Amino acid sequence: MTDLTPPHLRSFEASVLTGDATPEDLETLRKRSSVYVYESPVRLWHWVNALAITVLAVTGYLIGKPLPSMQISEATHQFVMGYIRFAHFAAGMILTVGFFGRIYWAFMGNSHARQMFILPITNRRWWYEVFYELRWYMFLVPEPKKYVGHNPLAHAAMFFFMTLGITFMMLTGWALYAEGAGQGSLPDTFMGWLLGLIGNSQILHMLHRFGMWSMVIFVLIHVYAAIREDIMSRQSTVSTMLSGHRTFKDDRPD
Ligand code: HEM
Ligand code: HEM
Repeated sequence: MTDLTPPHLRSFEASVLTGDATPEDLETLRKRSSVYVYESPVRLWHWVNALAITVLAVTGYLIGKPLPSMQISEATHQFVMGYIRFAHFAAGMILTVGFFGRIYWAFMGNSHARQMFILPITNRRWWYEVFYELRWYMFLVPEPKKYVGHNPLAHAAMFFFMTLGITFMMLTGWALYAEGAGQGSLPDTFMGWLLGLIGNSQILHMLHRFGMWSMVIFVLIHVYAAIREDIMSRQSTVSTMLSGHRTFKDDRPD
């Protein structure tokens, strides 16, 4: 039987590609490759954590700078600050459980699940690549390098703003909660010591609020970088946190 497949499609006979692929498409397909990098618990945690932090930042801001609730209606008919504080504490509890789950997955998951918790600060090449990536973000080098996990600059930012940042917000948040729950309560038993150490509830509130602004700064840069890198880098970014797969756009060495 005569083979009717066009010559440029012959090497792809076994694939499901229909005849619409041009020779250029096929050349691209040969060069692209994909690695499964972020397992489902990491992706699930990412989006739950992002949602919790968004709720915490909005409600936390309002806790520190309350709405003029008397302009909404008579105070006896509403519970505005109560609902806002409830949403804050509920999201704070989700954030806490999620973070412990994420730590568990750092032990159980693949090596990329551990990346966010460890900084290779003694590795000179890593430092070189942090600054290389910084120059790429500042449009000072024409092309970025390729990475299966987070790039070194993102890795450093995630370690300081998220791994340490979330820990700081959990500690200070639970210490504030312990103050409200009262002496002898469970939160007080675990976290009451922090207020004693800092000595003043107002300073604790202020530290917790500074933490919020550092999270807001991280999120703004992070979302910009994720979208920018999806478009400009040599690999997929946003879809990687959705599907778990990192796709590379070329087969040149990094
Ligand atoms: C990303 C995480 C978090 C952010 C951005 C955040 C943000 C804030 C902000 C801005 C305030 C107001 C501080 C002020 O100006 O007085 C606040 C208060 C508070 N937060 Fe958080 N928070 C976070 C996590 C947590 C967690 C994990 C808990 C633990 C349950 C928590 C419990 C509290 C409590 C008890 C208050 C004081 C409420 C009050 O005085 O009425 N927060 N938070
Ligand atoms: C409050 C909002 C957000 C926070 C706190 C946050 C935090 C994080 C953290 C901690 C990681 C590291 C994940 C890990 O190793 O387990 C990460 C990765 C990532 N995030 Fe977010 N994220 C937020 C929103 C977003 C949004 C809106 C997008 C999409 C536009 C996004 C896209 C990504 C991507 C693509 C990665 C993987 C980066 C890579 O390719 O290596 N994030 N994010």
